[in-house]
Amino acid sequence: MCGIVGAVGKVKNFPKFILEGLASLDYRGYDSAGASFLKENHEFACYKVVGTVDDLKKIVPNKIDALSSIGHTRWATHGHPSINNAHPIASMNGLFNIVHNGVIENYRSLKKKLYEKSYTIKGETDTEIVANVLEYIYLKNPHSVLVAIERLMKILKGSYALAILFKDEPTKLYFAKKDSPLILAESENASFLASDPLPLIKYSQKFIDVEDGEYGYLTKNEIRLFINGKEVEKRYTERNIEFLNKDLGGYSDYMLKEIEETPQVISRLLIKYFDGHNFIFDENLLKELRNAEHVTFLACGTSYHAAIVGERYFRLLGKRSDTYIASEWAYEPIFSNNNQIFILISQSGETADLIKCQKIINNRGMVNIAITNTIASTLDREATFTLYLEAGLEVAVASTKAFSAQVTLLALLVSSLFNNTSVIESLHSLNNVLLSIINRKEEIEDIANEIYKFNLIFFIGRGSDYIAAKEASLKMKEITYIHSEAFPGGELKHGPIALVDNKTALFAFDSDTKTDLAIRNNAKEVETRRGHIYIISIKELYKDGDAFNVNFVSPNLSVIPMVYVSQYLAYYVAKKKKVNIDKPRNLAKSVTVE
Ligand code: F6R
Repeated sequence: MCGIVGAVGKVKNFPKFILEGLASLDYRGYDSAGASFLKENHEFACYKVVGTVDDLKKIVPNKIDALSSIGHTRWATHGHPSINNAHPIASMNGLFNIVHNGVIENYRSLKKKLYEKSYTIKGETDTEIVANVLEYIYLKNPHSVLVAIERLMKILKGSYALAILFKDEPTKLYFAKKDSPLILAESENASFLASDPLPLIKYSQKFIDVEDGEYGYLTKNEIRLFINGKEVEKRYTERNIEFLNKDLGGYSDYMLKEIEETPQVISRLLIKYFDGHNFIFDENLLKELRNAEHVTFLACGTSYHAAIVGERYFRLLGKRSDTYIASEWAYEPIFSNNNQIFILISQSGETADLIKCQKIINNRGMVNIAITNTIASTLDREATFTLYLEAGLEVAVASTKAFSAQVTLLALLVSSLFNNTSVIESLHSLNNVLLSIINRKEEIEDIANEIYKFNLIFFIGRGSDYIAAKEASLKMKEITYIHSEAFPGGELKHGPIALVDNKTALFAFDSDTKTDLAIRNNAKEVETRRGHIYIISIKELYKDGDAFNVNFVSPNLSVIPMVYVSQYLAYYVAKKKKVNIDKPRNLAKSVTVE
């Protein structure tokens, strides 16, 4: 994954731009960080740390007289976090300093060739190979870095957003892009680049999304873009700056803030997709969906769980529907007929596994609808239609408000297909239920204080409660590091119950009259084996001894309050364990590698 930033020209304070920019990108990885400043005397000043941008701040001087600069925050793919593997990476003869986001698939064969040319390699990264191949190409014909980059791109296989400083041209910042996001921005007397607009919004409102295969350079007052040796015109795009707000707003963690923003997000979706009388969806999109015989959902992680809810909605409508984990489908794509339509769900819109699926779908010329939170993301740009989640920036690695937004949007979309406006009322009452959960969050904190020492946490449910259980379990394991699994209630006795002992907690979601008795029996079976059971029920099904209850919402929406409770639960367990809630170990927010 990784995040990159760069600037050239009259930047008031280079270290400030780079460090603040990297801090806003650290959701893309935080294993190591680094920055390189190129001075008028053609010398690089390079600083790197194993750790976060906060650690980098401690070693970068407050002021550096530079003409250009690049920075990087890393999520390690090739090579463990170390200074040698931290970016910026210098080429062997010191001509180039580069930062890279992506994965170079043929780096091993290139490395072998570099060894044959007597290159020495210090670290284990694929990026070091890129820096040295570039230098090798350039030194063979030292006329133009641009031409060297063009040749480099013909050699590299894999994904990359590269920012490149060349020692002899401190007033230029070179770049190249394929399959990893890269955005350029202009302002008076300076130009910038970054993996996403966040680091740039303070400096510019004019953005350019670099397309795959493009490369070029920035100077203080020009941006030049090329593809295959030919110059291409600049295309400006807009960003909704308001949605890029990263203010913590008085909260101690983004995760808590984002959980509590959920009711506002649902209200925003109601305004965006319903005008008081009618749904507001693109008629062509609705036509495609109505005509489709088969709806296939693709997504990863939390978005995958929202996708299963979507699949369920379409099945209830009587339409053939299925869901695949994107990284699985990408290697075994399943096409049924020409009336198949794809719905691709992603908060970030940059998840590599999903983008890979989208390419396969687009290559077959088939319709795909993106549901994403990120305007102008790759998923958005390449989709036939896009529906936006309106969730605002989600900073915490654990996805919370985006999940509720995804399910809400799917409910609105499906209801609009047969003009069922009753969903609007249901969503309004859902919001009241969420607000009442916010008011009772201390009760959830009390449960967290009981369970945080357990070794194993199971979540069970049936029907849509099982989907909630899956999402609850993902949230629990990713931010608390407690082993957690989710099962359909009936499956426990077919194996998993063997794991239960007195250090096991089991949460059973119970929102459905049909399955109330069955799920309670499943929980009882665990209690009999000395497990600790916590039943989260809806008020109508509440029984003495239940751990928590929520007011009734439409059965098709009950997954949202159930998951909502579990978001608080995971949050409070993580808090009790004093771990980094917003940046859990080994993870990154935007997963732009396969
Ligand atoms: C879980 C989480 C991840 C993401 C997954 C997909 O809390 O955040 O599982 O849901 O990486 O990300 P997007 O939705 O950006 O494609």
